[in-house]
Amino acid sequence: MRKSHFALTILSVLSAILLSNLYQDDKVFDYVIVGGGAAGSLMASRLSEDSSKTVLVLHRGTDDVCVACDDASAADPAYINAGLHSRNGADYFTSPQLFTQRNIREVRTNLPGGGTRIYGSINIPSSKNLIEKRWPEGLKYDVMLPYLNKLQDHFCHYLPFDVTNITEGECTTWHGKPQDVGMSISPPIPGPDHDFARDLFHGAEKYNITYVPDPWNPHYQSKGSYSWGTHSFHNRQDVKDVQSKRTRESAWTGYLPLSLREKRTNLVYQTQSEARSLIYLRDLLWYPVAALRLWTLPSSNDSEVRVVGVRYEKGGEFRVAFARKEVVLCAGVEGTPHFLQNNGIGPADLLHRLDIPVVVDNPHVGQGIAAHQAVTMVFSAKKAIPVRPGNDASQARMLLSSPLNKGYPDMEIELFLGFPVSQLESASSGYDPLFFTTPSTDGSYPHASVLVEVVDPQWRGSINVTSSVFHSPSQVDYGWPRDAGSYAASEDYQKLSYGFKLIRDIFLGNNSFAEQHIESEIVPGGPERDFMHAAQVQHDIYHLTGGMNIGKATDLKGAVRGLSGLSVCDGGLVPHPPNGNPTTTILALCEYVADQIKAKV
Ligand SMILES: Cc1cc2nc3c(=O)[nH]c(=O)nc-3n(C[C@H](O)[C@H](O)[C@H](O)COP(=O)(O)OP(=O)(O)OC[C@H]3O[C@@H](n4cnc5c(N)ncnc54)[C@H](O)[C@@H]3O)c2cc1C
Ligand SMILES: *[C@@H]1O[C@H](CO)[C@@H](O)[C@H](O)[C@H]1NC(C)=O
Ligand SMILES: *[C@@H]1O[C@H](CO)[C@@H](O)[C@H](O)[C@H]1NC(C)=O
Ligand SMILES: *[C@@H]1O[C@H](CO)[C@@H](O)[C@H](O)[C@H]1NC(C)=O
Ligand SMILES: *[C@@H]1O[C@H](CO)[C@@H](O)[C@H](O)[C@H]1NC(C)=O
Ligand SMILES: *[C@@H]1O[C@H](CO)[C@@H](O)[C@H](O)[C@H]1NC(C)=O
Repeated sequence: MRKSHFALTILSVLSAILLSNLYQDDKVFDYVIVGGGAAGSLMASRLSEDSSKTVLVLHRGTDDVCVACDDASAADPAYINAGLHSRNGADYFTSPQLFTQRNIREVRTNLPGGGTRIYGSINIPSSKNLIEKRWPEGLKYDVMLPYLNKLQDHFCHYLPFDVTNITEGECTTWHGKPQDVGMSISPPIPGPDHDFARDLFHGAEKYNITYVPDPWNPHYQSKGSYSWGTHSFHNRQDVKDVQSKRTRESAWTGYLPLSLREKRTNLVYQTQSEARSLIYLRDLLWYPVAALRLWTLPSSNDSEVRVVGVRYEKGGEFRVAFARKEVVLCAGVEGTPHFLQNNGIGPADLLHRLDIPVVVDNPHVGQGIAAHQAVTMVFSAKKAIPVRPGNDASQARMLLSSPLNKGYPDMEIELFLGFPVSQLESASSGYDPLFFTTPSTDGSYPHASVLVEVVDPQWRGSINVTSSVFHSPSQVDYGWPRDAGSYAASEDYQKLSYGFKLIRDIFLGNNSFAEQHIESEIVPGGPERDFMHAAQVQHDIYHLTGGMNIGKATDLKGAVRGLSGLSVCDGGLVPHPPNGNPTTTILALCEYVADQIKAKV
């Protein structure tokens, strides 16, 4: 009696679940993309090119907020500080870093387009030598070049040689023809935008820093130390007129403009939808209707766990979406490992410690992250430096080869004129935000801020979940040394020291630039302060990559090892930190991965 009653209860519970699943929002697509940020926007655009394929993007943020976002300068602190507390905030903090034990803030956003909605639009590829030496076999420069070219709209295609200094042959070899994505660089003439930057280029020549017309050309990339004008998604009003108004372009406006989204009825970009777990082939018992519609699933590798969909949260409710072909994770450097580890895909020892059932032991998930290190120097200028609204605030850039370089430039110098550099590290309390507090009446500042960066860092860190609860923050660790002695002795600190010295020579030395423009050094204030200054203000400059390294956590096509039907593309996939701002390299790699996913039967 009791037994049959129990069985009946079980049966009715089971049928209630089955019934509710029948009527659930069980949508079946060819592709489901998790995260519609920089890489996710590209992936959505590429996978929906074929109108016979349906694509769903699950994106966690909202699509309203800043109407003028794509016109806004990333320099506006309102955007950078919008992160943490607004509903589109996705910021997180690292675990205590260095011997100063600081929790360093990583600025992120849940706006569609992700980081590229608030970023500096600096567009520079990894050097050829870096890709040749550090990327896995089978994924070298000749593989990447067509993709690096593809995401350009380079001015060499419509401005004459006497303006560009780039020959027709060089243009065809290293640059793409104008495409939908208007990613380009600001022409060198009449730029750089301000005589301060121009004089710096000339003043720097005697320090063996060459001004190059084309930093995408490997000939210049391997030269050692060079500077160039600002690079950006420029979206120039009139392409032939270098003076015409530029606006920033994000991956969102570049790859998924409204006009395209309106045309692609096979593409659904769904906001306020947070992916929470994966659905496997074996779970399909619970989704009979979807199972029927998924019967065309390609045959799977029996020794791998087959992913068939995603469970996500929208408006407090859980829903499901199924993928006939592939689920693609584009949730970002932190988001993707967080999602995977939380779902039992990651290093088994970590998952065991947290009582998360292991689905796949993939020891590379969340491991091997790399942070570009950045330390500021501030100089007072002899006269106020005008801030140009509409133009990118940073007007000059250099890649340098330190004496410890490994065959490609390993340092980057970013010059910020009128940019509140102190705000990049607002997580660090007690640090005096003095840099740009006294603008002149026209809004300009008598200061130049210089970021000295180590872009080929020796250290690797990790992103590890800290509990099985989905919203518990991950532990983000850069892997920097935790004692002063190791830090001082490290190769990376030697590189920083070299950078400080070089910048002092240029800004305070015997040269026409220093003479004309620079009053004095304010920060750090002298070589004797370099060490503590570096330890106190060093941060990551939001150029985190790795953690899903291609060839390690995934195969060479971006497919997560140990599962089928699951691929990744975002900053985490980059196998070695790019020696410049990362997004160009990330997007080129994702173009390649999109082709691999499309080519699967
Ligand atoms: C202030 C700032 C300035 C920068 N300047 C430059 C620059 O000048 N040049 C350059 O090259 N790079 C720059 N960057 C870096 C650039 O923004 C990143 O490299 C790029 O955005 C990384 O792309 P991504 O697709 O990996 O991640 P993101 O763009 O961060 O996209 C990931 C998205 O996934 C979503 N997501 C996460 N988890 C889930 C989930 N479970 N469900 C649904 N959605 C989810 C998030 O909302 C997020 O929007 C800058 C970054 C910042 C913050
Ligand atoms: C082009 O290159 C030549 C030779 O290197 C140089 O003299 C000239 O200044 C360059 N022009 C521009 C516009 O950069
Ligand atoms: C520039 O390079 C030359 C030739 O290699 C070298 O002699 C000189 O010391 C270098 N100057 C600086 C400032 O590094
Ligand atoms: C993250 O987990 C991995 C796997 O257990 C471990 O090797 C690594 O040290 C962890 N990272 C930190 C910072 O503890
Ligand atoms: C500064 O440089 C100029 C020319 O490069 C040189 O003639 C002069 O002696 C230098 N002055 C000092 C103090 O080194
Ligand atoms: C099936 O998956 C296993 C484990 O990932 C892998 O070693 C094997 O090569 C795969 N077989 C095929 C035919 O892809």
